[in-house]
Amino acid sequence: MRDIDFVFSTDATIGAYGPVLRKNGWETGAFPVKRVLLSGAAGFIGSHLCDRLLQEAYEVVGVDNFITGHERNISHLAGAPYFEFRRHDVTTPLAIAGRFDYVIHAASPASPRDYLEHPIETLDVGSIGTKRMLEIAERDGAKFLITSTSESYGDPTVHPQVETYWGNVNPVGPRSCYDESKRFAEATTMAYHRARGVKTSIARIFNTYGPRMKLNDGRVVPAFLDQALRGEPITIFGEGTQTRSFCYVSDLVDGLYRLMLSDEVYPVNLGNPHELTIRQFASVITQATGTTAGLIHQPLPEDDPRQRKPDISKARRILGWEPKVPLEEGIRRTIEYFRQFYPADTPALSSR
Ligand SMILES: NC(=O)c1ccc[n+]([C@@H]2O[C@H](COP(=O)([O-])OP(=O)(O)OC[C@H]3O[C@@H](n4cnc5c(N)ncnc54)[C@H](O)[C@@H]3O)[C@@H](O)[C@H]2O)c1
Repeated sequence: MRDIDFVFSTDATIGAYGPVLRKNGWETGAFPVKRVLLSGAAGFIGSHLCDRLLQEAYEVVGVDNFITGHERNISHLAGAPYFEFRRHDVTTPLAIAGRFDYVIHAASPASPRDYLEHPIETLDVGSIGTKRMLEIAERDGAKFLITSTSESYGDPTVHPQVETYWGNVNPVGPRSCYDESKRFAEATTMAYHRARGVKTSIARIFNTYGPRMKLNDGRVVPAFLDQALRGEPITIFGEGTQTRSFCYVSDLVDGLYRLMLSDEVYPVNLGNPHELTIRQFASVITQATGTTAGLIHQPLPEDDPRQRKPDISKARRILGWEPKVPLEEGIRRTIEYFRQFYPADTPALSSR
């Protein structure tokens, strides 16, 4: 991986993100007054959050060590004014001049394939990385936001999952490196809030999908799409009666942005409450891609959650937020993005 470390000049213009990012926009007086430090900036969610923050006229310093992210996710920001990127591992000290108004810690391997491949790094970024980012927030008097996860609930015995539910996590199972890392990160966040007075918020994110996901990360949306687009049967674990709910990334990012601006300290679920069985989801993908290859079944992996559905009443109440993008529309946009990774004559793409 090429080592990139670039600071974009304020002279640059960027068309893709509208007038607010054009030099003339800034010259009319819309100079960024708030500065955000964002870890995990080259990841799936982090890169979309960069886009949103720049659109909202924040100055953004993104950091990422590319352990699971990719530079193509932020390459469109080359030339964006007020965007700076540092290749950096946030478990080590970060020296950046100037103070921040917001610190967002979104760095962490997030897909099961990634965190099973990098269990120690996953624990480190949730523990040491969270502490280092909180220290920067404390130093600057900045607001801190962490992207935690529905995996904090483990294999839930309460359905749908509400923020006051404490979870059912196996501390020594294969997924524990991720689940416990995030639970520790939440605990660290609360400790810095209580003991050091840092302004903090905790997002518990449920399954999110969209452009810039990795095709091979093992998560259900890219996994199903990849198989369907290749004309291979879609793999269902178990009977496919386990449920998931999928939130389109722009909706999720909107929730994160609202939470960043809020005073809420305790965790807030962000996700789409529209619940489907995995089998139903496979049929959405079958229809969207036109694949005729059918389904195959494999045994359920250990600790695979049986049900996932957020209760988002708290986010509705305190953030005025709820997802807007219908699943079929989100899947269509995601297929558009994945198109670039397949030859033009891939049957499922060329027939549409
Ligand atoms: N995508 C989802 O459905 C989902 C669900 C729940 C929670 N989350 C959380 O949202 C955040 C982003 O997830 P994502 O799906 O974009 O994953 P991702 O793997 O695409 O992005 C994570 C980014 O963090 C970077 N990173 C990891 N360790 C780092 C370190 N030590 N220093 C610097 N950078 C580091 C990776 O290189 C990557 O770019 C994560 O904290 C994840 O736990 C995501």
